[in-house]
Amino acid sequence: MELDNDRLLRALARQPVDRTPVWMMRQAGRYLPEYREVRAQAGSFMNLCQDRDRACEVTLQPLERYPLDAAILFSDILTIPDAMGLGLYFETGEGPKFRKPVRTPEAVDALTLPDTERDLGYVMNAVSSVRRELNGRVPLIGFTGSPWTLATYMVEGASSKDFRHVKAMLYDTPQTMHRLLDVLARAVTDYLNAQIRAGAQVVQIFDTWGGALSTPAYEAFSLRYMQQIVDGLIREHDGRRVPVILFTKNGGQWLEAMADSGADALGLDWSTELSDARARVGKRVALQGNLDPNVLFANPRAIRAEVARILESYGSGTGHIFNLGHGISQFTDPDSVTAFLDALHELSPAYHRS
Ligand code: CP3
Repeated sequence: MELDNDRLLRALARQPVDRTPVWMMRQAGRYLPEYREVRAQAGSFMNLCQDRDRACEVTLQPLERYPLDAAILFSDILTIPDAMGLGLYFETGEGPKFRKPVRTPEAVDALTLPDTERDLGYVMNAVSSVRRELNGRVPLIGFTGSPWTLATYMVEGASSKDFRHVKAMLYDTPQTMHRLLDVLARAVTDYLNAQIRAGAQVVQIFDTWGGALSTPAYEAFSLRYMQQIVDGLIREHDGRRVPVILFTKNGGQWLEAMADSGADALGLDWSTELSDARARVGKRVALQGNLDPNVLFANPRAIRAEVARILESYGSGTGHIFNLGHGISQFTDPDSVTAFLDALHELSPAYHRS
């Protein structure tokens, strides 16, 4: 089926567009009152993810409100460890937790691949519902966490600031860590391929915690497994290329190695300048980013100035996807998103005149 709006796919393929396409990490979420309402009806966050109609509804909410160029499936990266039986739950105000963290070599060896159809079928159901409801308006992005990022939550049992358990495992028993990452890479590959078959037209790998590693550890324990996933993905579906976006938060110093992975695009947080990234890898990949989400707490004039600066930093030509450098904060005023998108849509066409 033809898309009404294929700016995102064109920018990912580094083809010309009329204006810079944009979507926002965590665009469906708590900063939207209409999300909070559906979230309250669902009871728990996981109920919301597993309820095909509600998950579809909240996926579409940001598109009803804003002129965005993509939908991103409403789900979570922690669906995979949950499907592996770790017992995911959310404690209000404390983020995700696991009842059964994976702390020992025995626990790693006991892990088995989830049965994607049986244990994660609810995600694919949501993907097909969203595709049907979108009806070609914009492409749908599917996603996963990177093996390393998933491992941090599985070993720590929760969000962490210092990653002491997972890093102790990495340095004490690297072979155990490799076994864990290998199972996760295989699970993630199956999971993304199932999302692609169900209708995801682009996929993004969120490596939120890759930037917490040393350079050799990043290459051996995070990038290598993302590479394994990219190598195993369906790259063409329904006659169209399925682009892959790699996002390592705080990974700016590793862009060359990331571009070698075969990904179509790299996501950047705000600590890397787009002009610098483009000079280093822009001949090989598209670049996505990189507004600091906290800029959205400033006034509309300041938001516009940052949008202008970022457009200028990337410069004219193909291959830029505008996004935030990380997920939008739950405390963001929805009107600030309007100011951001108004500024972008007013300023970006000038960068696409040949
Ligand atoms: O982008 C989107 O609109 C799609 C939805 C999405 C969610 N999580 C919904 C969500 C996506 C892409 C994610 C990815 C995700 N989840 C990541 C990678 C991206 C990133 O932000 O670094 C990570 C690390 C997670 C793990 C996770 N899930 C955390 C740390 C939390 C708690 C966050 C918080 O602010 O409390 C979640 C829960 C979660 N996932 C929420 C949402 C909207 C909030 C929970 C709620 O609504 O009750």
